[in-house]
Amino acid sequence: MKKPDQSKKLFIKTWGCQMNVYDSNRMADVLAPLGYECVDSPDGADMIILNTCHIREKATDKVFSEIGRLKKHKKAREAEGGQMLMAVAGCVAQAEGDFILERAPVVDMVFGPQTYHELPEMVAKATGAFGSNRPVHTELAVENKFDSLPEEHVNVGPASFLSVQEGCDKFCTFCVVPYTRGAEFSRPMQAILDEAMRLIDLGTKEITLLGQNVNAWHGDGLDGNPSSLGKLIEEIAKLGVTRIRYTTSHPRDVDDDLIAAHRDIDSLMPYLHLPVQSGSDKILKAMNRKHTADEYKAVMDRFRDARPDISFSGDFIVGFPGESEEDFQATMDMVNYIEYGSGYSFKYSPRPGTPAANMGGLVREEVKGERLQRLQDLITEKQLKFNKKTEGLVLPVLFERIGGREGQIQGRTPYNQSVNAYGNERLIGEIVDVRITEGFMSSVAGEIETVEIIAQNA
Ligand code: 5AD
Ligand code: SF4
Repeated sequence: MKKPDQSKKLFIKTWGCQMNVYDSNRMADVLAPLGYECVDSPDGADMIILNTCHIREKATDKVFSEIGRLKKHKKAREAEGGQMLMAVAGCVAQAEGDFILERAPVVDMVFGPQTYHELPEMVAKATGAFGSNRPVHTELAVENKFDSLPEEHVNVGPASFLSVQEGCDKFCTFCVVPYTRGAEFSRPMQAILDEAMRLIDLGTKEITLLGQNVNAWHGDGLDGNPSSLGKLIEEIAKLGVTRIRYTTSHPRDVDDDLIAAHRDIDSLMPYLHLPVQSGSDKILKAMNRKHTADEYKAVMDRFRDARPDISFSGDFIVGFPGESEEDFQATMDMVNYIEYGSGYSFKYSPRPGTPAANMGGLVREEVKGERLQRLQDLITEKQLKFNKKTEGLVLPVLFERIGGREGQIQGRTPYNQSVNAYGNERLIGEIVDVRITEGFMSSVAGEIETVEIIAQNA
């Protein structure tokens, strides 16, 4: 890549899902040729991007209070005679673009998730190079974006995200994604393999394939015919990457290829995040999830038959309109049946423009809070049980960062457990055998078994 003459500081703050993390990295890649380098603080930044999430309540309020906080950095920069561009990106920008510009005069640019490849043009506009300013880019068509993104990646770590699919056609009645990310789009297999190879060449050991509904991926295969996620994983495995993951999936889109991939491909990690949202058929129907509780259980049983040690994770919503105590109990029963290794639970929040926002049978806030507590306690109990079950095992751990305590490094097991172990920082980026010594609620402690790598790197 051509080295730009003058370096400018870029601060990106990211909320929400892993797709947003991927997008933020790609924004940095798009801006690198213009001389922008990522920094960890807004102090003295030449550009700030707030990459926002609209999935749950108070999203817009959070963005406005962050803009308020960052305003002083912009003023300080201007007082020095400089300029600081402030941009709002992501799903709040998509949903509320004009409103943001109207209410927050300090914001220079607003752009949605499918348009950040146009950043150089937006920057030129916002800095007055073409006379006009305050661009708003919120088109929803995603095809152009992937074709226009640069091949170079500037910030590549031991574990990388790779976006293969965007948008969603499922229209769950509580969810804003079909409106903020648009219709389903699958990238072609060859483009994904090329990007995976570049990441591997840059030292990535783990690739997580991303999509709002990743197992609905049906991009053109190498023969030009629509393919499947299982086949895509098979091709990526052939490139020689050590670990493959994918997220987030929908139960209805699980097919034989995906189950077979979990049975046959060693580099596909034994971990699956498959949201269920509720264990009650009545609520699942009102959510338009398009499956019953028993169908979900049957899908999970198939994964477990294919890969008996697989660790399951899920998303759950409590207090959806019409949810009775009995419906909620069905969700608790589901958690007991599946024995999740981890899980994420949320109070239902009505999202403007979604069908559920107009449904009757609202559940009182105190009831939602109380149910959330009971569900979270149960999930925590399951997490602890899973983590305890791994005590004594020797597992390959990909170390990714320095740990919480002095001398510790942190990584993840194949089951996606977070591990803390005492070890040399030079092991970051390596996969090392670790004996799990103790399982906690949301992490495990371990002792490093193999140290040869230190000698190799010394
Ligand atoms: N209220 C509460 N939780 C929601 N989610 C999505 N929309 C809502 C909403 N309106 C949760 C779902 C989804 C996760 C990403 O966020 O559980 O799987
Ligand atoms: Fe939202 Fe449902 Fe699509 Fe997931 S499957 S992104 S919850 S609409």
